[in-house]
Amino acid sequence: KKRVLSGIQSSGMLTLGNYIGAMKNFVALQHECDCYFMVADLHAITVHQDPAALREQSEAVAALYVAAGLDPKQAAIFMQSHVPAHAELGWMMTTLTYMGELERMTQFKDKSEGKDAVGAGLFVYPPLMAADILLYNAHLVPVGDDQKQHLELTRDLAGRFNQRYGETFVVPEPFIPKVGARIMSLEDGTKKMSKSSPSAGSYISLLDAPEIIRKKISRAKTDLGREVIYDVQNKPEISNLLSIYAQCTGQTVEQVQAQYDGQGYGAFKKDLAEVVVQTIEPLQRKYHEIRTSGEIRDILRSGAERANAAAEATLSAAKEAMGFLPRG
Ligand code: TYM
Repeated sequence: KKRVLSGIQSSGMLTLGNYIGAMKNFVALQHECDCYFMVADLHAITVHQDPAALREQSEAVAALYVAAGLDPKQAAIFMQSHVPAHAELGWMMTTLTYMGELERMTQFKDKSEGKDAVGAGLFVYPPLMAADILLYNAHLVPVGDDQKQHLELTRDLAGRFNQRYGETFVVPEPFIPKVGARIMSLEDGTKKMSKSSPSAGSYISLLDAPEIIRKKISRAKTDLGREVIYDVQNKPEISNLLSIYAQCTGQTVEQVQAQYDGQGYGAFKKDLAEVVVQTIEPLQRKYHEIRTSGEIRDILRSGAERANAAAEATLSAAKEAMGFLPRG
């Protein structure tokens, strides 16, 4: 069985982009692979988080994993901070990483641009992510397009470690969806849909009420013209909406396009809103059930046990390879 690891930061409420780009694939992979899905709380604190908000968001992300269809009996669902090996191997990976490599990371450039006080954690975020993946010797890492560069660095670091200290880590492959790997903002088809955007109209939160979802989609920016055609170059906004539609119904973009042949944006957007609501509503129902039942704490406890067992074995091997004196 192939091993899979991925995670989502608990730095805010998840968006439809997180769902389509990542979570949907977590669910799809859980039966055929040996899966580990974490809530990346250590990554969340690379930008300041209010402690009460961090606690709430972390539990919310874990509950959303289960609500989206992850089965805790199949996949280990855990908090990154419940497995100390992440921070430990993260440091070891940091020492292997070159400053130039980190300076080239586009996510770092985006997040630090124009700020005068940039936390060092934001800079050394990629080697921690590499540690997350390498600890489980993951073969596959389901992520959206924006994590591709971090995955490439992870592969380089795994190779560098193996070359210097002997074969220790599996070199992982990204698993990126063909459609929906980069869901764009509803207000600007050239920008990524992001939970950290200051404009709530630009993203759909997985916990937005149906009427809010309908409103956001009806107000979504559309390209000039009126034909519902997939053409990323010339019609980025309509193409984005077509991707969302296709991903929510399981159709291909071509099928959706054919279905709306000769119909205008209005009819398409109206149906799209219903398609999104139908995707998100059952997830929300399940989410509220899980939050009230309190079961998430048990899920996280047993997930952490499984994750710790796997991670500790790899960490020991890596420490031994690097030359740390065994504790005896
Ligand atoms: P994060 O928390 O920003 O996003 C979580 C996942 O959602 C995907 N995603 C999107 N996909 C499509 N369209 C979008 N608009 C969109 N926005 C986000 C992301 O690509 C990601 O897959 N560094 C990671 C978290 C992480 C991680 C890991 C991932 C930490 N350790 C180890 C994989 C393996 C991050 O910030 O994702």
